Amino acid sequence: MGIVGAGPAGLILSQLLDRAGIDSVILENRDREYVTERVRAGLLEQATADLLDELGLGERMHREGLVHQGLYLRFAHQTHRIPLSELTGGRSIWIYGQQEVVKDLIEARLAAGQQLHFEVADVSVHDFDGDSPRIEYTHEGERHVVDCDVIAGCDGFHGVCRPAIESALTIHNHEYPFGWLGILATVPPSTDELIYTNHERGFALHTMRSPELSRLYLQCDPHDDITNWSDDRIWEEMHHRFETDDGWQLNEGPIVDKGITPMRSFVVEPMQHGRLYLAGDAAHIVPPTGAKGLNLAVRDVRVLAEALISFYADNDSSLLDAYSATCLRRVWRVQHFSWWMTSMLHLIGDADDFEHRLQLAQLDYVVSSTAAATTLAENYVGLDKV
Ligand code: FAD
Ligand code: DHB
Repeated sequence: MGIVGAGPAGLILSQLLDRAGIDSVILENRDREYVTERVRAGLLEQATADLLDELGLGERMHREGLVHQGLYLRFAHQTHRIPLSELTGGRSIWIYGQQEVVKDLIEARLAAGQQLHFEVADVSVHDFDGDSPRIEYTHEGERHVVDCDVIAGCDGFHGVCRPAIESALTIHNHEYPFGWLGILATVPPSTDELIYTNHERGFALHTMRSPELSRLYLQCDPHDDITNWSDDRIWEEMHHRFETDDGWQLNEGPIVDKGITPMRSFVVEPMQHGRLYLAGDAAHIVPPTGAKGLNLAVRDVRVLAEALISFYADNDSSLLDAYSATCLRRVWRVQHFSWWMTSMLHLIGDADDFEHRLQLAQLDYVVSSTAAATTLAENYVGLDKV
């Protein structure tokens, strides 16, 4: 197996295959430090956390991760709790940073003696229309070739695998007129569970990484420059957006990381062509409001690993042939949920007051109807049936 990209999708796929005795080579164009230090997602669905346990990788997550059984929706300056576990038969979510998951996976890959090459350049994929695909790349100035049975394109949204088959794909793309400014601050979180806020000045989210480290996001102009946001300006805006009627206080602390991410919804169909299979962000992007990007990438590679194991063990390609259709059912469910959460919680630039009132009516329904709250909860912790 040739795998392009050492993000969560590529690393978990390799680990799942290794367990079934299938060798893989992972090629990553960044260096190890870069992939383990970049701050990205932080919320794992129960099923993602269970998979890490099953793969024998859950030890540090159990020690350092935080388990949450609910979340807060804040609007009209009031806070309402959605009891996620109560509404979903006891399921919960984990707070454990993506870069921590990636660190644990890289260590496991290297300890198992599997091939994982960082800082490769000029990766290109070839002959995936036939039975003998190959990947070419440059490492330390020399050109190399990996002959493989199958290629997994786990190289994220800006990778090379999707463009290699783009002429065979249908692309669905929706861009939002806003982005998220995210910060990491060395200050104890001001809340025990995540707060998603709809405010007249725009969306805000309070999440965390540990009892000492807070992560917060603000809706912003996606084209804004982060240098326009001094730490003082960020905290001032946070105070506005999280303000409540009940005297709740937001703790401030030193900001150790900040950045702006644009938001889009994106899907390619199908997620496969010949013997090239796309997984994770290479095939789809969701806006982060439902915390689904990482979890969806993990679901894809579970489906792909199962299909590859059946292909190697029984010479049966039916699961591989069905890979894209199997994944897309869930991808579109998650696309809808992420779009719905985004639309309900963000300030829509040119919307009139009518649309804001509709958002408030919807939020009021979600916090006062068990049926509506369950819809949010079961999607948020992760649906099993799609
Ligand atoms: P990636 O993690 O992108 O991994 C792809 C890997 O491929 C990378 O290591 C990349 O360096 C490598 N690669 C790329 N091109 C090549 C090449 N040509 N050759 C070799 N290797 C290559 N999701 C959430 O749920 N919540 C969040 O808060 C959140 N924040 C995010 C912030 C940012 C800035 C970004 C970019 C994404 C964020 N996401 C978030 C989404 C989430 O992080 C992704 O869905 C998740 O990383 C997908 O995993 P992946 O393995 O498919 O792709
Ligand atoms: C986090 C990010 C999200 O996009 C989200 O919806 C919840 C949590 C996080 O970074 O912890």
